Amino acid sequence: MCGIVGYVGNQNAVPILMEGLARLEYRGYDSAGIAVLSPQGTQAYRRVGRVRDLEASLPRRLTGKVGIGHTRWATHGQVTEANAHPQASGDGRVRVVHNGIIDNAMDLRDALLATGSTFSSETDSEVVAHLIARSDSATLEAAVLDALAQVTGTYAIAVTDELHPDRIVVARNGSPLILGVGDRAMFIASDLAALVRHTTSVVHLDDGELATVTASGFRTFSRDEENTAKTPTSVDLTTSDVDLGEHQHFMRKEIFEQPESIERMLRGRLDERFGTARLDGLNLGPRDLRAFRRVKILGCGSAYYVGQIGALMIEELARVPADAEPASEFRYRNPVIEPDTLYVAVSQSGETADTAFAVREIKRKGGQVVGLINVVGSTIARDCDGGIYLHAGPEVAVASTKALTHMAIGFAMLALALGRVRDLSITDGQRLVAGLLGVPGKIKEILADEPHIAELAADLARARSLFFIGRVRGFPVAREGAQKFKEVSYRHAEAYQASELKHGPLALIDAGLPTVAIVPDDELTDRNVAAIKQIVARNGPLVVITHSSVADAEPNLRRITVPKSEPELDPILLTVPLQLLAYHAARTLGHDIDKPRNLAKSVTVE
Ligand code: AGP
Repeated sequence: MCGIVGYVGNQNAVPILMEGLARLEYRGYDSAGIAVLSPQGTQAYRRVGRVRDLEASLPRRLTGKVGIGHTRWATHGQVTEANAHPQASGDGRVRVVHNGIIDNAMDLRDALLATGSTFSSETDSEVVAHLIARSDSATLEAAVLDALAQVTGTYAIAVTDELHPDRIVVARNGSPLILGVGDRAMFIASDLAALVRHTTSVVHLDDGELATVTASGFRTFSRDEENTAKTPTSVDLTTSDVDLGEHQHFMRKEIFEQPESIERMLRGRLDERFGTARLDGLNLGPRDLRAFRRVKILGCGSAYYVGQIGALMIEELARVPADAEPASEFRYRNPVIEPDTLYVAVSQSGETADTAFAVREIKRKGGQVVGLINVVGSTIARDCDGGIYLHAGPEVAVASTKALTHMAIGFAMLALALGRVRDLSITDGQRLVAGLLGVPGKIKEILADEPHIAELAADLARARSLFFIGRVRGFPVAREGAQKFKEVSYRHAEAYQASELKHGPLALIDAGLPTVAIVPDDELTDRNVAAIKQIVARNGPLVVITHSSVADAEPNLRRITVPKSEPELDPILLTVPLQLLAYHAARTLGHDIDKPRNLAKSVTVE
């Protein structure tokens, strides 16, 4: 989704803005632009296409010490240069970059047109630039406040004004915005990835908050123009976290980071003696944990599928009824919020609009929500009553991999904590703690099988359509496997419960429709093998993801063997080969793996 960068300082803003925009590319966008303030006035350049196309179009001598930049993902209006940001006031004096949606843009536009404004784009954002330029307030801050008082909707904006060339004024309402504190310089970004090269000292703006940034520092204030006290915090991020290193794609880099990142996530959080998890961030004591009679998990896309894995873990280990629901659906019904239900929001970015709205709706109705979130200080993380940070590190590829494995581990720890204040025995707790500690090493074993998985993926990539099947613990794994495959290979991939095959989908099985079957060694192995036999009997090609202890159901079956874990933890490991399968299928097909078409990294608008 759209990205914002900004710079005020003593250096040339142009390379800093361009580098920041390149760091935001992973979020998904269709056009980009920058505006810099120089003694000659504002100079702005916009292009449809990639950041590198914009860079190629810039004059060699472009300089300015104050500037803003943007990557746009079209919502209001076509993908055109005129609709790219920065948007300008009629006289070009004021420039605005905007993430979010102005709900009353049409009404404001009509009113501005009636009083003589002319518009050069179809965007909702342009009205903001016009409103600011029309204000007769003496300061840019007051003009921005005047404009925002007329606006309804969500926004993160950054504004420059030729009348106030030493500053950028920013505001946040529903879309993330972060200030970076540099040495005689200030940075602005919608995402930490754009700041990491310059500073690790950051200020997260809250909704309803504004800030002025100049080369000498920042001031934050509320809509009533009252100063707000904000102290910069330090973020634990380095450029190597957001650079490719030896890898060709971020997706592969992130898959291969898992053993190390999981080890980091588990450090200090498992209690081997008492067989439980220490989750202080939940802000819930044993009595609170015991009092919950139900767990409801909310997330979107892959986070929802991992939520289904989590719900099964919680039911199995804690014997508390648990289910997962897409947050995108939950927010639009009128959910019954129960005081003895623990609501869990799960999100990599912590900025997904549907999940953020669901959290607010639960809180508005008095419910208790904790988060399983990767991005520290993100909107959802801050809105929740407590939570478990995933500590997966930055995830750049649009297709989520390591963050999902971390979510599954987060759920296993939550299930342990809920189980151990109920009927889960200390020996079972110790068994699961040992199982979790063994996960990083076992993932390494799976990753070592990459060449074999890549071969199978190249073959699967030739099919137009595929099935992914699994049963109970294996079904959400199959759903996530299908999701990953379709996201990056653009092949139709559909997940079914293996038990449902004979109730309909079997009609489609033939030599042209491969199936990826999840067959762990557990109490359902025989049933899964029966489903496989039905597919083989109809000449359906198969790839089986299984444990070495599962005997070959059929001669010549193509297998990916995964190390055995504790049965309740099997979904964590079974997911990993599916990540590599999707990655290598997309690679075979020559797709833009890290930025699949039509998708954005974090979906911050409807
Ligand atoms: C994952 O590969 C997808 N890109 C997508 O389904 C994602 O999981 C979903 O949009 C939720 O994102 P979040 O975890 O940042 O909330």
